Amino acid sequence: MEDSIELILQDHSEVFPTNRPHPVVSACTGALLVGLYGVWSMFTLPGFRKVPWKLKVPYLPSSRDQTQNVMKLLEGRRGRLADLGSGDGRLVFAASSAGFQCTGFEINSILVAYARSKACWIGVPSSQATFVKKDFWKTDLSPYNNVTAFLAPGVMEVLGEKLLNELPEEALVISCRFSVPNWPQKASVGSGLDQTFAYDISSVRSHLRMQSMNPRADR
Ligand SMILES: C[S@@+](CC[C@H](N)C(=O)[O-])C[C@H]1O[C@@H](n2cnc3c(N)ncnc32)[C@H](O)[C@@H]1O
Repeated sequence: MEDSIELILQDHSEVFPTNRPHPVVSACTGALLVGLYGVWSMFTLPGFRKVPWKLKVPYLPSSRDQTQNVMKLLEGRRGRLADLGSGDGRLVFAASSAGFQCTGFEINSILVAYARSKACWIGVPSSQATFVKKDFWKTDLSPYNNVTAFLAPGVMEVLGEKLLNELPEEALVISCRFSVPNWPQKASVGSGLDQTFAYDISSVRSHLRMQSMNPRADR
């Protein structure tokens, strides 16, 4: 009886090979995944613990098209620029090469260190590009007449309130990928994931004032 069961199992394993991976391959795959997770968490998690859960935004670098769209929307502008969540500094470097005095606010110390060393490496002086390890939610943004951000849909409404409270009347806000709810756009460039939106703070304020005076006008 036992022999016949063994025979049946043998036959089945020939018809349906189990394809079990070699233990060394499994161990290497496991180690690789753990390593990738380590690198990913190093770049995404540091500094995040203190940010409230609903305001957390992970690191995701903007694409080349997004950066170009931001630069198109900044055409004709000058002065001080704050990049909220500057990541590896790519938007800051692009804007500083167009003559803006840029500050990148970034909560992840590894990304701040990377951006600072890149600035040294490519010879961008700190008068043109500064990287500050700071939570931008706790930063007064009133000195900036240009603000760029590539964040997440869930934080855009809160961001809008903060910018309305702090920015000077002549400020321009540029947001990659995610629009600010209830704000009238000045312009938008690109499409899909690369779409980038520009807002004039003065127009946004007067639009919202009109809306609050006549709440039925937009319906
Ligand atoms: C979607 S990434 C964009 C990175 C970069 N601006 C770019 O375009 O490639 C958002 C960045 O915001 C940073 N960040 C998230 N919350 C932050 C906060 N409260 N203060 C400062 N930086 C923050 C993240 O660490 C991440 O690097």
